[in-house]
Amino acid sequence: MNLVVVSNRVARGNVNEPMTGGLAAALLPVVENSGAIWVGSSGRVRDGAQKEPFAEIEALGAGALAMLDLPAAHYGGYYEGFANSALWPALHSRADLISASLGDYLSYREVNAFMARALLRFKKPDTAFWIQDYHFLALGAELRDLGVTQPIGFFLHTPWPAHAVIEGVPHHRELIESMLAYDLIGFQTRDDCDNFLEYLSSSLGIEIEDGVVTSDQGKSRVAVFPIGIDPEKFARLAAKAVSHPDVSRLRRSLNGEKLAIGVDRLDYSKGLVNRVSAFDRMWTLQPALTRTVSLLQIAIPSRGAIEAYVNLQSELAKLISDVNGRHGEVDWTPIRYLNKGFGQTVLAGLYRTAQVGVVTPLHDGMNLVAKEYIAAQNPADPGVLVLSKFAGAANELETALLVNPHDIDGMARTIALALSMPLPERRMRWEAMMEKLRNHTIKQWFADFVEALQETRSGKKTAMQPITEPSWPLRSVNAGAGY
Ligand code: F6P
Repeated sequence: MNLVVVSNRVARGNVNEPMTGGLAAALLPVVENSGAIWVGSSGRVRDGAQKEPFAEIEALGAGALAMLDLPAAHYGGYYEGFANSALWPALHSRADLISASLGDYLSYREVNAFMARALLRFKKPDTAFWIQDYHFLALGAELRDLGVTQPIGFFLHTPWPAHAVIEGVPHHRELIESMLAYDLIGFQTRDDCDNFLEYLSSSLGIEIEDGVVTSDQGKSRVAVFPIGIDPEKFARLAAKAVSHPDVSRLRRSLNGEKLAIGVDRLDYSKGLVNRVSAFDRMWTLQPALTRTVSLLQIAIPSRGAIEAYVNLQSELAKLISDVNGRHGEVDWTPIRYLNKGFGQTVLAGLYRTAQVGVVTPLHDGMNLVAKEYIAAQNPADPGVLVLSKFAGAANELETALLVNPHDIDGMARTIALALSMPLPERRMRWEAMMEKLRNHTIKQWFADFVEALQETRSGKKTAMQPITEPSWPLRSVNAGAGY
């Protein structure tokens, strides 16, 4: 079988370079080893009139990496517009932030159609396509319209919300119906999967039996595949990184003080304001903890052209400066706040240096930082993970200290508890989590999905006439429907 993996963002293989987003970093090593072709955006745009779609194709392990320039006229409406101002807030249950014009939706569909046309050059009789994430919900349907009969799978890296929330997305009906072109649809958790099935049955009146959906497009299997990491590799990186200059400098600067660490994209789903407020509360309620523990918060700027992200960036910077102003001393800064990314080796070393990992999103598909923090710990003296019960990872990492990120007092108490946890309890909790990570690796996740995709061919319907030229306006968009 020839596997073609598609995601908006792709990564190149250097552990010393920062990587944005859990998806790209997680996929890189497995795609590299599988011999698959990985296709995604080059991050650049070009005028749609130009013929050759690919900016670059390069070797990636046993396979290849193909980076595509997306059409300039549609990129903004696709990425900042429909994907990240309508779908992202909805998928993270922030219906109040949903905003998208019809033009954004048309651009989203146009980029999905553009990607489908570009993928045809990789199609062979034994190809299977595996589409990743919310940027490409309609890509399977576009491929079917081009006559593709090969297996097509889809995996969603974010949560899937309750149906009342997804109904706030303009054109949700048409978009979600288009997802039924996939043979296999994977989710991170049982709750996400159940929410999706609930939407299909209650909003679309579709029949479901044993996780198999039957629609006029054929059958689609819907199942749960929680994504993992390579824990042994991360543990090796962390042990090696102890002597890295950045990590040694951090250790020296602590003067024996304890450290808590948070590493996130600067996104409202990550609960950063609540997290900083919890530290503020902790230092207020327990002044003895000032000077004995500080927070290193790495917040990598993200989607800076979207208003909600610009607002969050200034709100967070203001809050942190206020907390530092109130609790700081001439020779002590409570929160070290960095707006830049680090390579995986340094990150692993930073995780190992911190006695507490704080991963407290309001909603998160999985959150691989939680898993990486655990894998990076020193087995003889592991740190404690404080984890939101609304992160997908909480389903597996039950021996973390689970918190409700909306309960600031509760989080403050739990962080203080983590800091004083005795070694035997820390080890017991850590060993149980490490065992889970070893049993559900990224390699296993990849293999399980591909195996399930090969087993679920179901005779999907395709268009009679393959379409090879760009079509405009979009044939499938029904203006105004679904609002
Ligand atoms: O599913 C989440 C995801 O696709 C992850 O890759 C990453 O956390 C983020 O979204 C990517 O964001 P962006 O590519 O917009 O920086």
